[in-house]
Amino acid sequence: MNFEGRVAIITGAGSEKGIGRETARQVSKRGGAVVIADIDEAGLAEAQEEISQYNNGQTMTVKLDVTDKEACHQMVKKVMDRFGRIDILINNAGISRPTRVLDIPEQEWNLVFDINMKGTFFLTQAVLPYMQKSAYGRVVNLSSVSGKRGGGIFGGSHYSAAKAAVTGFTKAVAREMAPYGITCNTVAPGLIGGTNITGGLLTTDKEVSIKEGIPAGRVGEVKDVAYSISFLASEGAGYITGEELDINGGSHID
Ligand SMILES: NC(=O)c1ccc[n+]([C@@H]2O[C@H](COP(=O)([O-])OP(=O)(O)OC[C@H]3O[C@@H](n4cnc5c(N)ncnc54)[C@H](O)[C@@H]3O)[C@@H](O)[C@H]2O)c1
Repeated sequence: MNFEGRVAIITGAGSEKGIGRETARQVSKRGGAVVIADIDEAGLAEAQEEISQYNNGQTMTVKLDVTDKEACHQMVKKVMDRFGRIDILINNAGISRPTRVLDIPEQEWNLVFDINMKGTFFLTQAVLPYMQKSAYGRVVNLSSVSGKRGGGIFGGSHYSAAKAAVTGFTKAVAREMAPYGITCNTVAPGLIGGTNITGGLLTTDKEVSIKEGIPAGRVGEVKDVAYSISFLASEGAGYITGEELDINGGSHID
């Protein structure tokens, strides 16, 4: 995989141990310019320092709440002003809440949906016109095994519903955009260790019991997911679209 000359926007790559940051590492180390958009200012400052080492300073960080439509469009404009192109969008920003269905307040339902789904919609809508003009684009969205089997270990029904919605959205965008040379795919990770999204709930005991249900005998690592995202974002994956790629060590096979 080679990303030289390509410009990638990755949301939610502020979190140092997260999937987005590892994807930023893999894309930048393969020559790509990287734009990191995240709500976490401290994470952004640290991401700028780390990632710019790998791609000769072709790194830009933007403070962004993906639920703010206007801010999403402004960020995309800033990226065009600096780099003049957008080849890749990775909609990785996401949150989860381990709340049981009977206890989910409407506000929490909306928050989980807005960040995971509406943010994905806003940014996709903002970049597509530029990708259409250049007749090239790779959009990769983050779904989850929770969206497929129902019920995650650390996510409630709102999280499952939002991730299933991301998959449906991805398939429809894939169909619409294929004639323009734009692909749109999702990755659906199983449990990935070490990230913040589990909110510290992945204790050693819990991890041991979870591992028993994973044929590969281990929980996933961020590099497992980042590699798959990078593959779908690469030029060579141009004939794959509307696909949902499972990354779960065999814990859910369909
Ligand atoms: N970790 C897992 O086990 C797992 C499994 C399946 C899917 N996923 C998905 O992978 C993606 C990345 O998760 P992660 O595990 O790296 O989590 P993480 O918590 O480490 O990273 C999420 C990032 O999103 C950012 N973010 C949150 N709200 C935002 C907003 N409104 N605007 C902009 N940025 C915002 C956070 O600041 C953080 O940097 C998420 O979409 C998640 O749902 C994770």
